Parts: sequence; structure tokens; C-alpha cells
Amino acid sequence: MPLPRPLPESLQTFQDAHWQQNDIGRSQAMVYFTDRWFLKIQPQASPETLRQDLQALKWLQQHVPVPEVLGHAEQDGQEFLITSRIQGRDLSLLAQEDREKAVMHFARGLRLWHGQPTQDCPLDRSLDFRLVEARQRLEQGQIALEAFTDESPEDVLNWLHNNKPDEDLVLTHGDYCFPNVLVDQDRICGFVDVGRAGISDRYTDLTLALWSTEYNCGSGWKHVFLQAYGHDLDQEKLHYYSLLDRFS
Ligand SMILES: Nc1ncnc2c1ncn2[C@@H]1O[C@H](COP(=O)(O)OP(=O)(O)O)[C@@H](O)[C@H]1O
Ligand SMILES: [Mg+2]
Repeated sequence: MPLPRPLPESLQTFQDAHWQQNDIGRSQAMVYFTDRWFLKIQPQASPETLRQDLQALKWLQQHVPVPEVLGHAEQDGQEFLITSRIQGRDLSLLAQEDREKAVMHFARGLRLWHGQPTQDCPLDRSLDFRLVEARQRLEQGQIALEAFTDESPEDVLNWLHNNKPDEDLVLTHGDYCFPNVLVDQDRICGFVDVGRAGISDRYTDLTLALWSTEYNCGSGWKHVFLQAYGHDLDQEKLHYYSLLDRFS
């Protein structure tokens, strides 16, 4: 299919490729792919920019398997990012066939991220950063108010400010869910959607990972995931980071 809009000058070589539209994913981005490339297009005014993906991809390149950046541009209020396509399929598809295998890959993939050295990473997603971001999103009307039934978002955010747990900082993916992990020939071959990657508490990933395990595999698989990841759940931290996730 032709793309819905012309690509900027610097990305012209990609214009006439055989693009197809991808419908998995949850962000505001329009996602297209060919047999070699992935293209994301989204409004420059989006709360999370593709510049963030670009910056994260460049640093992560040397640490975990992520797509290669082939081009980035901004034009007419839109942002464009082209990366290499990672071959293989995502874990949400594998889970339809073999849930146990999918959960094992999912846990192993997270161990890989959380086992990386953190010293030189310029990507900060620590609690202070996330709380400032949560406040901004609230003030700019970017959060889903349906998630707040008993208490106002202001009260929840104040509670989060006053009850910060100690941080156990690791390299986090930031959107660790089944569709963002790709496998090929029975091994993990890449991670995508890394715009929120950075140094953060491991519960930044564990909270979403547990939700995604249940969403993709059904109930009864969370303990399998935790055992393979190698961690005893801290319920208080899970509660804290689940509340914080309502602001993302
Ligand atoms: N470079 C890539 N290589 C292979 N598959 C990709 C690549 N980028 C994205 N995908 C696939 O497309 C889906 C949507 O892309 P993603 O970057 O996660 O967008 P969204 O922000 O909409 O979730 C991913 O879940 C993954 O299955
Ligand atoms: Mg995604």
C-alpha cells in the first residue's frame, strides 16, 4: 500500500517500498513495515516522542538486541522513525501456540535487561523522574481518569510522593509486554518499543510484565513467570508501581 503521506526529503529512499500497515500496538503511532524495515509516524505534539525512541535505541544498541536506526525526521507536525525489521515473531503470537515457552522467553528476556550494568546509562527513568512526569501528565490532561474510582488522581499522586519505596535500580525496558519481545528459532532475537527504556526500579517492568503474562496467557501463569525470572514478589512495591502506572 502507498503511505498515507509523503516521507520527508531525507527519507525519500524509503518512500516507494512495499509498505504494509501493522495493527498491533497501543500508542498514537501509525506503524508500517516491509520485509526489511519498520516505520513509525506520529504527531510531534505526542506526549512521548520518537526522539526518545531514537535516543534509547542508540544507547541500547551495544547492550541488548534492538532494531538499528535507519532514519529519523520531523516535518509538518509529524515525526518519522525508520528502523531495521527484526525477523521472528512477537511473544503474543507464540503464546497462542505454546504459553509455557512464551512465558519462559518473556522471563529470560527480562533477566537479560535487568542484568545489564547501569553505570554509564544516560537514560533516567528513576522514581523522581517518573513522579515529575506523572504530575505533568496529570496537569496536561493526559491520563485515563476511569482508572481512578475511589480516590482522585491528585490524592493518589500525593500519596505516591509521600510513600516512595527504596529503589532497586536496573536497566528497564519501560514497556515490557508480550508484543514488544520477538523470538526466532526458539531464541529471543530482539526487543522493540523502547522509548521509555532507562534506569529505573525493576518493578517498573515487573508490574506491566505480570499484567501482560495474565493478559496473554490467562490466569495461573504469573507464578511461572516469577519463578523463571527468579524473584519473590514484594506486594507493597507491586501496589506502589501499579498505582504509578495509572499515570503513564
Ligand atoms: N523493528 C521491528 N522489527 C520487528 N517487529 C517490529 C519492529 N517494530 C515494531 N514491531 C512490531 O510491531 C508492533 C508495534 O510496534 P511498536 O513499536 O511496539 O508500536 P506501539 O508503540 O504502537 O506499541 C510491535 O509489537 C512488534 O510486534
Ligand atoms: Mg508496542
